[in-house]
Amino acid sequence: MANILSPLSVIILAAGKGTRMKSAFPKVLHQLAGKPLINHVYDTAISIGAESVCVVYGHEGEMLLHNCKNFKCHFAEQKEQLGTGHAVDHALPYLSMNDTVLILYGDVPLTSEQTLKNLLDKVDDDTIGLLTVNLDDPHGYGRIVRDGAKNVKCIVEQKDASPQQLKISEVNTGIMALKADLLRDMLAKINNENAQGEYYLTDVIGLAVDAGKKIETCFAANEYEVAGVNSRVQLAELERVYQKNHAIKLMESGVTLADPERIDVRGNISVGQDIFIDSNVTLSGDVSIEDFVQIGQGCVISDSTIGAGSIIKPYSVIENSTIGSQVEVGPFARVRPGTEMAAGSKVGNFVETKKAIIGEGTKISHLSYVGDAELGKNINIGAGTITCNYDGVNKHKTIIKDNAFIGSDTQLVAPVTVGEGVTVAAGSTITKDTSDGVLVLSRTKQKEIAGWKRPEKIKSDE
Ligand code: UD1
Ligand code: MG
Repeated sequence: MANILSPLSVIILAAGKGTRMKSAFPKVLHQLAGKPLINHVYDTAISIGAESVCVVYGHEGEMLLHNCKNFKCHFAEQKEQLGTGHAVDHALPYLSMNDTVLILYGDVPLTSEQTLKNLLDKVDDDTIGLLTVNLDDPHGYGRIVRDGAKNVKCIVEQKDASPQQLKISEVNTGIMALKADLLRDMLAKINNENAQGEYYLTDVIGLAVDAGKKIETCFAANEYEVAGVNSRVQLAELERVYQKNHAIKLMESGVTLADPERIDVRGNISVGQDIFIDSNVTLSGDVSIEDFVQIGQGCVISDSTIGAGSIIKPYSVIENSTIGSQVEVGPFARVRPGTEMAAGSKVGNFVETKKAIIGEGTKISHLSYVGDAELGKNINIGAGTITCNYDGVNKHKTIIKDNAFIGSDTQLVAPVTVGEGVTVAAGSTITKDTSDGVLVLSRTKQKEIAGWKRPEKIKSDE
């Protein structure tokens, strides 16, 4: 059992170049489920209770530091990558010798909290916890060498292994946990006399055994938990794993998914029960979906709340908005940031809203732009209504009071207020505030020209 009084320090190795990504960006900044790989690892470190985190970085340091600017952690630059042992050495100045140290990798994003907790449980003053996995094809990995009594003796890297050792299928995941003072003492002893001329962190294991320490291994519950990303193909594979796991979580909480293989979750989603999500929906950022909501095919929803019983019809895009209960959106609606839809309101096809407060029961059913607007209750906005909110320099507000009826093809030139219960005749351009309860119209008078002949086609010689 771990010494629970010992504070947890996590070292995240992230100095590698990631040549196989073929990218101008450091490998650990490539995104999985909308979040950089290293952020997944950092978040896991924090969630298992790390009191201190140190990121060891190297390539494209500025980009990495910029990405990690909100991390509460130390950064250690490893200018030359001389091996994993050399990398960990750079984090030593940031450790307290009483700490329990957990070593993670910026390109191994999906290790579960439970697996790491199991590993940490193995650690005490005389015991190192080592996370291993059995692989059908262990090629490329460090092999776990055990003695006759099955105790771990050492780790041998692929390039240093004997033909006999190459047959071992239990491999090192790289993830280990041990007391900081033991780590320091063992790192002081490693050298680079091996096939790759590198300072191997893995040599710490053999040296600790020689010093009379014990190695306790733990298996990861799933192979993907210890899988690293070295290429975009591997990144895509882990993305699918992540999405599949997330889809299962959603279904277990009471969401029906038309196809669990065709949903993308890129953020923190909270859900109620009896929700239906059709195929090819993307949810990102902080999205909260309440009971009985239906989300149609191809919707893209980010940083928004969808109230109980609302229906979001296919191919609608909702960003940074609050959708109340029993609301109808879409199909093909674009609900932009700052839209607040009250209960029972509706935004229909080819409607765009932005910074729009839409009162209870108010309907904007077709082909409209409503921006910088405050709409009261039970208003009907006719097709083709436009709030002219921008004069080329500044944005202005449109206010429409309760029970107004705005005829089709109306332009509301802001700033403007339409009074309560007003009827605006179709095709009007409203430039002045109106009184309450009136009919407003601004159209040129219709006229008829009797006996009008349509032009005839001019005959040409050709
Ligand atoms: C390492 C392990 C091997 C294990 C494998 C699991 C060593 C010597 N070997 O091998 O036993 O099976 O991981 O994937 O540890 N890094 C740095 N600085 C360096 C070198 C590496 O930050 O100087 C980082 C890399 O960015 C990478 C990680 O450490 O995230 C592992 O390095 P890598 O070179 O991939 O080690 P492997 O040879 O795969
Ligand atoms: Mg590797």
